[in-house]
Amino acid sequence: MTQLHNSTTVFKLNTGATIPAIGLGTWRASKGDEARQVFLTAIKAGYRHIDTAHVYGNEKEVGEAIREAISQGIVKREDLFVTTKLWNFNHRRAKEALNESLERLGLDYVDLYLVHWPFTTLKRTDSEGKEVYLPLKAWPDYDSYFDKDWDYIKTWQQVQELVKEGKTKAVGVSNYTVKRLKKLIEHPSTKVIPSVNQVQLHQLLPEIELVDYAKEKGVVIEAYSPLGSNGAPLLKNELAQKIAEKNGIPVANLIFSWIVARGIVVLPKSATESRIISNLKIADLPQQDLDALTKYAQEHGGPQRIGTSTWVPDGLWEDSDL
Ligand code: A2P
Repeated sequence: MTQLHNSTTVFKLNTGATIPAIGLGTWRASKGDEARQVFLTAIKAGYRHIDTAHVYGNEKEVGEAIREAISQGIVKREDLFVTTKLWNFNHRRAKEALNESLERLGLDYVDLYLVHWPFTTLKRTDSEGKEVYLPLKAWPDYDSYFDKDWDYIKTWQQVQELVKEGKTKAVGVSNYTVKRLKKLIEHPSTKVIPSVNQVQLHQLLPEIELVDYAKEKGVVIEAYSPLGSNGAPLLKNELAQKIAEKNGIPVANLIFSWIVARGIVVLPKSATESRIISNLKIADLPQQDLDALTKYAQEHGGPQRIGTSTWVPDGLWEDSDL
C-alpha cells in the first residue's frame, strides 16, 4: 500500500522564493464567519498556501483567518504564501487595485499577485448600484462591457512594476494559453517574466504543451479545478479509480499527487472541514501510473475544458485577438 503524507513539497519561483505545492483554493467558499473558520481550520491542518482573489469576495475572511492564526501562534506571516488576483475591470489601475486587496486582507503584502484573466472589462454598476463583475454572454449588451482600447500587454506593463513597491513579492498571470504567455514573455515591454500561470488543469485537460513551455521559461504552473470543479466529476473517472484502488489511496489524493509529481502547484477547494484536511495528503506514485493519467485525455477524445462558456469572450481559448 502507498503511504499518504501531508505535503511539504515546495517549488521554486523565478524570484527565488518558494511556493508550497498544495494551496487552498477559496473560490466558492462560504462567506462570513463560516468562511473564516474554514480558512483557520485549513491553516491549523497544515496549509501554508492560500489562494484568493478580489472577485471571490472573501479576501476579508482570508485575512481575518490569517491574523487569527498568527495571534494564536500557529504561524508567522512569513510562513504563509498568500495569493490574490487583479480583477478584469481594474486592469488600468493595477496599483490601486492591489492596495484595495491588501486593505481587505488586512495585510502589508501578498506573496503573489496574478492578473486573473487576459482581458479587460469596464467597471459598471447594475440597477441596484452593485458592481458588475461577470457580464454574461446572454445579455444583449455583453460586447459593450469590454475595454477595447486596452490589452493584457498594457496590463503587464503596470503589474510588472508592483514588486518594486514591496506590496507583492511576485507577479504572475492566470488563464493564459501558451500563445498568450509566449506573446507576453517575448514582448519588448516585458521586463519581468511572470512567476506563475494559474490555469484549469486536470485529467481531461492536462495542458502538456503549456506545462512544457512554462518549464522552459521558469514559469510555475498552478492547477485550479483539479477535480473538475463543481460536483468533482473526475472522482468518477474509471482510470483514476482503478489507479487509486491499486495504490490503496482515495481518488482525490491520487489526482493531487499526480499534479504535484508533474511539478505543478495544485489548488483543491473544499468547504468541508474533513476534506480540506484530507486534501493536503499526497503519495509517491509509480511513474507508469502518472504517465497513464497524463496521457488519458489524448487517448479519450482530446482535451476538454469545463465550464466557462457562459461568460468568457468567444475565442479566448482559441487565441483570438482580445
Ligand atoms: P466540497 O466543498 O463539498 O468538499 P475542484 O477543486 O476541481 O474545483 O473541485 C471542487 C469540488 O470538489 C467541490 O464541489 C468540493 O466539494 C469537492 N471536493 C473537494 N475535495 C474533495 C474530496 N476530497 N472528495 C470529494 N469531493 C471533494
